[in-house]
Amino acid sequence: MKRLGFDYLDLYLIHTPHPKQHMDRWQEVNAGSWKAFEELYEASRIRSIGVSNFMPEHLDALLETAKIMPMVNQIRLFPGVTQDETVQYCRQRNILLQAYSPLGTGKVFAMPEMKPLAAKYDRTVAQICLRWSLQMGFLPLPKSANPYRIRENAALFDFELSAEDVAALAALPT
Ligand SMILES: NC(=O)c1ccc[n+]([C@@H]2O[C@H](COP(=O)([O-])OP(=O)(O)OC[C@H]3O[C@@H](n4cnc5c(N)ncnc54)[C@H](OP(=O)(O)O)[C@@H]3O)[C@@H](O)[C@H]2O)c1
Repeated sequence: MKRLGFDYLDLYLIHTPHPKQHMDRWQEVNAGSWKAFEELYEASRIRSIGVSNFMPEHLDALLETAKIMPMVNQIRLFPGVTQDETVQYCRQRNILLQAYSPLGTGKVFAMPEMKPLAAKYDRTVAQICLRWSLQMGFLPLPKSANPYRIRENAALFDFELSAEDVAALAALPT
């Protein structure tokens, strides 16, 4: 934090449950990291603490020793990739789902179902995918290096997809 020049961080995540170097004892390593996260949270150095790429078995293991429930689980979610089991697990425990790669790292632009939907709502393909993510209850984290697209990706709050279209996008082939 000193090197970043900040007094506190908004959010801090364990990036992955079992990195290669801790494959044989990931439960123990995550429990230790989480204890440090909890201390930083209680000292108000970090506003929210969470995890990324955790599936239910990883969260179950963490919760054996955790005092504080993770506030966020950042996982890969976009139309056709819905990680239902993890999503249900997190919803039941009030863990916010952050959707990384919400445009499928660009893959959504090649999906044939997208253009007709974009035309139906008079929006771009990116906006359809990001609005879908919001309506699924996710917090989408699109990446763009282009200022025009960054604005486009934030203009999501003056239209709504129908429940049928949300369900159809969720059911697209992975
Ligand atoms: N926790 C994890 O393990 C994890 C893993 C992967 C990614 N992430 C995070 O998730 C975020 C996004 O992931 P991502 O970069 O994989 O994928 P993404 O946001 O799904 O897609 C990014 C790609 O879409 C393009 N794009 C963005 N907005 C667009 C628009 N409106 N129209 C057309 N093209 C558009 C970008 O190009 P331009 O830049 O040229 O616009 C880029 O090629 C990143 O911040 C990343 O750090 C987290």
